[in-house]
Amino acid sequence: MAHARILLIGGSGFIGSQLAARLAAAGKRVTVPTRRYERARHLLPLPTVELVEADVHDETQLRRLVAQSDAVINLVGILHDRRGSPWGPGFDAAHVRLPAKIVAACAHSGVRRLLHMSALGVREGGEQALPSMYLRSKAAGERAVREGSAPDWTIFRPSVVFGPGDHFLNLFASLQAWLPAMPLGRADARFQPVYVDDVAQAFVNALDLPATHRGCYELAGPEVFTLRELVALAGRHCGHRRPIIALPDGPGRLQAALLELAPGPTLMSRDNFDSMAIDNVASGPIAPELGLTPTPLGAIAPSYLSRGPARYGIERMRARR
Ligand SMILES: NC(=O)c1ccc[n+]([C@@H]2O[C@H](COP(=O)([O-])OP(=O)(O)OC[C@H]3O[C@@H](n4cnc5c(N)ncnc54)[C@H](OP(=O)(O)O)[C@@H]3O)[C@@H](O)[C@H]2O)c1
Repeated sequence: MAHARILLIGGSGFIGSQLAARLAAAGKRVTVPTRRYERARHLLPLPTVELVEADVHDETQLRRLVAQSDAVINLVGILHDRRGSPWGPGFDAAHVRLPAKIVAACAHSGVRRLLHMSALGVREGGEQALPSMYLRSKAAGERAVREGSAPDWTIFRPSVVFGPGDHFLNLFASLQAWLPAMPLGRADARFQPVYVDDVAQAFVNALDLPATHRGCYELAGPEVFTLRELVALAGRHCGHRRPIIALPDGPGRLQAALLELAPGPTLMSRDNFDSMAIDNVASGPIAPELGLTPTPLGAIAPSYLSRGPARYGIERMRARR
């Protein structure tokens, strides 16, 4: 079945903006709810995309939005939260309770199709053994989707996502423009970065493809890098390569704790540090039914990093607060 009207929750962010553009190009009518209309204005030029200011945590508002849709895509996610067990209140609201509310709203309106964004590193079962609040709460969100009553769900688990405006390479480029050296915890943690356009295309390709119903898909690029290699690459291409000082685990976690206390947007937290205790690497190539050939990082990242980190990274995070 072709789904014509898509509710794209979390559609104003880095990945969501690319996905909104691709859905519009595929002829879909897309509704993007946002907490702050002004912050999502960049989507307005897209011809079939409607932006609405709404609180998706409010079940009445959510039900109204879902009822006007044939399919729902949920991209909402946060990277930092207060400490809590098994996760903090922000993760609980965004990663656990919101997916449950979305599933309930789908059931209420008879919307069967739900695409849900999770993260690489999450696994079914053994949720409590996952090393961070971020991963544990994402796992609980997945469970809400699997066990809920929107029968045609698909879950995606990307590795770190790169592309113009990303939160990762641009952050390391920004930091190297400011600092004389880069003290780095978890320098040997491994990642398999995936291009934002490939992530968006995976969602578009899966949307009307029954073979992806009740499937969980890892999304990763063609190459594996250590964190140290990615930081060096960001520094090289932005023109501010700094010496990298790898920190042992104790000082690395202390650095993350101190960064949580720093004024301004959180750049790094103990929870991020904990997430990197496990490699962020896929178990195999992207599933063939998604119809994707993943783009190498080297084909894309140099061009946007060389435009200068100051336009992205920390400044962008500050703007979104
Ligand atoms: N970027 C990556 O490298 C990466 C890797 C793996 C997984 N993911 C997952 O992919 C998803 C999208 O990531 P992204 O990088 O595009 O994030 P992003 O740029 O920070 O965008 C997040 C989106 O979620 C919405 N949002 C954030 N907190 C919310 C809250 N408490 N309640 C309601 N809406 C909220 C924001 O909407 P408004 O501010 O407009 O309301 C925004 O549209 C997330 O689930 C993330 O965990 C990302």
